[in-house]
Amino acid sequence: MIPNDSTGIDISEISRKAGLPETTVILVLRQLALANIFRESSPRVFTHTPSSLLLAAPEFANTATLLLHHMDEGFKSAGHLPEALDLYAAKFDHVQKADLRTAFNLAFNTDLHYFDYIYAPENISQYGERFGRAMMGHDPAHLVDGVIDLYDWTQFKQGGKIVDVGGGVGHIGVKIAERVGSGVEVIVQDRPTVVEQGKLLHGNILTFLPHDFFLEQPVKDAQVYYLRHILHDWPDDVCRTILRHLYSAMNATSKLLIFELVFMDDKFWVEEGSGCSDEDTHWKREMVMMNLHMKNLLGLPRIVR
Ligand SMILES: C[S@@+](CC[C@H](N)C(=O)[O-])C[C@H]1O[C@@H](n2cnc3c(N)ncnc32)[C@H](O)[C@@H]1O
Repeated sequence: MIPNDSTGIDISEISRKAGLPETTVILVLRQLALANIFRESSPRVFTHTPSSLLLAAPEFANTATLLLHHMDEGFKSAGHLPEALDLYAAKFDHVQKADLRTAFNLAFNTDLHYFDYIYAPENISQYGERFGRAMMGHDPAHLVDGVIDLYDWTQFKQGGKIVDVGGGVGHIGVKIAERVGSGVEVIVQDRPTVVEQGKLLHGNILTFLPHDFFLEQPVKDAQVYYLRHILHDWPDDVCRTILRHLYSAMNATSKLLIFELVFMDDKFWVEEGSGCSDEDTHWKREMVMMNLHMKNLLGLPRIVR
């Protein structure tokens, strides 16, 4: 509603475009301006800041989508954390998926697991499809190219198979496919609707296979089974179930690769002297926010030391 090159738009115009009363819109915009997203350049006139321009940039679209996922399912669930801790905390790591309940269940008034809810036919357009795009939004901050390059993907011969289990829409699979030699198949497995979403993006490069990782792994003897940001979604007992199915499909030379965020040592959290560097502060915020977000939606985050 505020064009990128605008020198300032009056609240009356923004309010007309939003279809909301000025008294409401100004409250939201002033709150945002305090967070340096938009600026009130003269009374009741708003312009962009570098932060709001970044959110509007096409190359930043997936990250903006990730923020929407956090603000919608995330914020709504966060308000229910205290009741969820009272009701469910003792059980978080002692149940399998069907019995797992979190703040999300209270906020959305459902007994479905978060993933079953967002991929239900009636919710796919509002939540499921957005989640698939949101997962690509992490890529710039998580330096995925650098991390993927830590592994030698050229070692596999023609006929080899690499399975990205729970690989989403294939945004990582496609990077792996760029690095392997010819004749090595990169297979991305996920829930059926995610696979369909992925096919539209990368169906010409990757093999997409609908698969529920709580069932027997259909691709046996692959060279690599890759789990990226999967185990952190599930309590330990549930992770064991996922891993057991992969273990049964592996042969003696198959590799299991796990790409996760690693929680830093306790010493990292103690501020010394004049405080920590900007990079450290950024990383701390990301870790704490991600962990609480996943606790709220999915239960107990995995904390790896
Ligand atoms: C946090 S996302 C990570 C996606 C991708 N690996 C990445 O790094 O962006 C977790 C993924 O697990 C998938 N998932 C959840 N439950 C699943 C199940 N039972 N079987 C297969 N995939 C599942 C979700 O659809 C989602 O794509």
